[in-house]
Amino acid sequence: MRRKIVAGNWKMNNDLSETEALLNDLIAHVPETDVNVMVAPTFVNLFQAFNMLKGHNIEVIAQNMHQEAKGAYTGEISANMLKSVGVHTVILGHSERRAYFGETDELLAKKVDAALANDLQIVFCFGEELEDRKSENHFNVVESQLKNALFHLAVADWKNIILAYEPVWAIGTGETASPKQAQEMHAFIRKTISEKFGSDTATELSILYGGSVKPANATEIFAKEDVDGGLIGGAALKAADFTAIINAF
Ligand code: PGA
Repeated sequence: MRRKIVAGNWKMNNDLSETEALLNDLIAHVPETDVNVMVAPTFVNLFQAFNMLKGHNIEVIAQNMHQEAKGAYTGEISANMLKSVGVHTVILGHSERRAYFGETDELLAKKVDAALANDLQIVFCFGEELEDRKSENHFNVVESQLKNALFHLAVADWKNIILAYEPVWAIGTGETASPKQAQEMHAFIRKTISEKFGSDTATELSILYGGSVKPANATEIFAKEDVDGGLIGGAALKAADFTAIINAF
């Protein structure tokens, strides 16, 4: 079902006591709302976060997972491990995973399959680099990222997929896609999904925008027809900013 979603990607920030402090702040300030609110602390703090958020309208989600079920993959975390600590949603394909950890569309297709096989919901991230936009290749890049990682899915799988369009040039840079650029790309994404999986799938799909969303620009971006919420990095680390972004809906 198409939903309003605000998800905070904490990345490699917040040790245990900082995680507890930020969660307590969020519990105190996040309003009763029809927006689905999610936060993604680092792996080691997921269980504590799950316990603290029980009974509150904030879902704890993971930032990544490995595609195999178990075995000799030192340092990795499986879908089942996430589920065993109360996580039901995982972010896959974040541009930092692609850029710094060599994650390709082909690998992400496997991670997507593993997550779905374990009944995890996915926040799937993708988006073009600055050169792609400058050379007006951004639509092609986005289309091929979607095709390579998600076009093998069945229509029924899409109930567990949330898309997050994150232009790489806007992540952590303070530069945001204009509301017009965001709407233009989100409409293109919905059309691409509609052509392959049908209009019902596309209409029901939640498509988030990510890349320097702040309290000051959230209202304008979220007002766009095809923008169903945001994946928030830097501004998710301060309860006041994250709450203001939720209130922007
Ligand atoms: P940012 O990060 O809001 O700090 O740009 C967004 C993201 O990486 O998901």
